This record gives sequence, C-alpha cells and structure tokens, in this order.
Amino acid sequence: MRVHRIASIPADGIGPEVIAAGLEALDALAARDGGFRLEVTHLDWGSARYKQTGAYIPEGGLDLLRGMDAIYFGAVGAPDVPDHISLWGLRLPIAQGFDQYANVRPTRILPGITSPLRDAGPGDLDWLIVRENSEGEYAGNGGRTHRGLPEEVATEVAIFTRVGVERIMRFAFQAARARPRKLLTVVTKSNAQRFGMVMWDEIAAEVAADFPDVTWDKELVDAMTMRMVRKPRSIDTVVATNLHADILSDLAAALAGSLGVAPTGNVDPQRRYPSMFEPIHGSAFDITGKGVANPVASFWTAALMLEHLDERPAAAALMAAVEQVCAAGILTPDIGGTATTKDVTRAVCEVLRGANLPTD
Ligand code: IPM
Ligand code: MG
Repeated sequence: MRVHRIASIPADGIGPEVIAAGLEALDALAARDGGFRLEVTHLDWGSARYKQTGAYIPEGGLDLLRGMDAIYFGAVGAPDVPDHISLWGLRLPIAQGFDQYANVRPTRILPGITSPLRDAGPGDLDWLIVRENSEGEYAGNGGRTHRGLPEEVATEVAIFTRVGVERIMRFAFQAARARPRKLLTVVTKSNAQRFGMVMWDEIAAEVAADFPDVTWDKELVDAMTMRMVRKPRSIDTVVATNLHADILSDLAAALAGSLGVAPTGNVDPQRRYPSMFEPIHGSAFDITGKGVANPVASFWTAALMLEHLDERPAAAALMAAVEQVCAAGILTPDIGGTATTKDVTRAVCEVLRGANLPTD
C-alpha cells in the first residue's frame, strides 16, 4: 500500500468548505482504488490564527511541511487583514521557501459549463499555462522611501535570472512535450522591456534546441489576450512570467466559464520539497458559510496533486467523475446551477463509488 503524507491547510473564507469536499472525494477514491492511502495532517494556519497569535505559520511550521509529500491548500485572505500581509504571511513563504518555481494552471471547458466565447465547447479550449513562480515581477524586490512626503518613491524591480528563466523554460517545454499537440507559446514583452524579456526570449530559443519535437512560437502578452479570445484552438501550452501568467490565467479561467473550477499546482519539479496544490479562486467572503461554494476547483486541484504523487489512474477517475457530474447539470450557482457544495460533492463521491448519474 502506497502511503502519501498530505498537509491540509484550508485556511480562510470558503477554503475549509472546498477542502473538506476535496478530502471526501480523495477518501472515496482511496477506498475504491485500494492501492494507496493518504495520511492527512490537518493544520489550522490562517487569518484567525494570525489574529490570535501574530503568525500565520507557527514556529517550526515549515520544517513540519518539509516531511510531507504534498500540501493541499484552500485560500488565504481576510477582510480585516491587508492582502499583502496574509499573502506574505502564509502562501508565499511556502511557495518561496520550498522553491516551488513552476506554477501550473490547466484550463479547459468542462462539459455542462458554458464558455463566454461564442461556439466554444469542450475541446476548443484546452490549455496548460505555466507560470514562473519564484522571481520576475513578484520577487518582492523593492522599497519605499520618503514616506508620505511629496517626493516619496517606491520601486518594484522585476528580477530575471538565467537560472530562473532556464529552469521554467525547460519545465514548460517538457510539459508541452507530454501533451498530445506538443505545442508551446512563449509569452513575452520584449518590444517594450528590453532587458529581462529579451533575455527570456534568448533563453527560450536556446532551450528549444533541446526539444526539436516541440513546436513553439512567441507572442507578446498584449497580443496574447486577443489570441486567447479569438483563436483559442491555436493555443496549447503557454509559458509566461509571474505577472503575465497571473493575468492571463484569470482570463483563461473566465473564458473556460468560471474561476470556480480552476486549479493550480505550485510545483518543485526537482522534488526536493513538497509541492502545494490549491484552487485559484481565493477566499470569496461573499459566499463563505453559505454552502454554495463550487468544489470543482478543489476536486481538480486534488487530481493535480494525485498526478504529482504518481497516482495517475486515480487522478483520471476523479476528473472523469467531475466531468460526469458537471455534464449531468449538477452545478453550483456560480456556473448557473442550483446545487450546493454538498450536492456536488455527494454526486462526485457516488460516481466514484460506481453509481451512474441520470444524464439530461
Ligand atoms: C493567483 C492569485 C495570487 C497570485 C494573488 C492572491 C496574489 O491571484 O493565484 O493568481 O497572483 O499569485
Ligand atoms: Mg491571480
């Protein structure tokens, strides 16, 4: 029996609701598969803890995580804590402390979900966005001086290192190679940003030489937004900087029909440290506690985590169950349905236990 040690950090807002749903589905999968078992450590790290103790992560917390095989993360952020405090208090110390430099964001139109793109259905939009996750525009490099004075200055300096760019390019080419179309678009802005982005393009061309079987092209980030809307079928795998991919992945999620279904993995491809998997949607206070949060992103996130743990058949079974439930119209209100988090979770678990759903 393979045992995977998972740290569960549901944290804030709808995080606990969707992570509980995901853990239920994972239990159902492990029970039916029989080949693996998850050993889950539940951690209460989040904004409530921060308000009580002054720290999101307790003393020795990162050491505790270090021994895990993966981290299943909900969402962080609270209305009464500034966003940069919560983010730099919990998620970024994990992502940066464990050098999770590759952020992977698969997006596709699930059956039963309507894309705002006219005539686009499942198969027309099937992308994998690879986001550089350790440096670039979000490196945290900058400062403020002369605070409050008319001459106040703030800098936010993007950092691009050869090591950082080369490793994300290599990861992206490999990811593209592993998908049927073997097609990679390198997003850039090397017309206006003439240092970091020019180096980015040069390194892309160097790395491409090692991947003759991958077809690749370059697109300026502004033009990329148009291409995503106008020619979604021309795109497969995409690699972009931290900032560019942050923006493009929200657009991708919207074009696929909902931010409520989009997952992400913060991955250390070298597996020196645990990788962290999370839904993209964030805390969503407006619906917290109402029982209507969409658990699909959390399920898809769990599937990404299973793939990373090399439990591929289980990951595929989970996604097949999710697709069957979506196709049957069992959808939460954010994607036009009337089902609750529990309804969707129950339906997914039933399919995993072998039930057939009525299709309409
Ligand atoms: C995302 C989110 C975060 C990010 C925010 C909350 C800082 O937008 O996962 O895309 O940009 O990393
Ligand atoms: Mg974002």
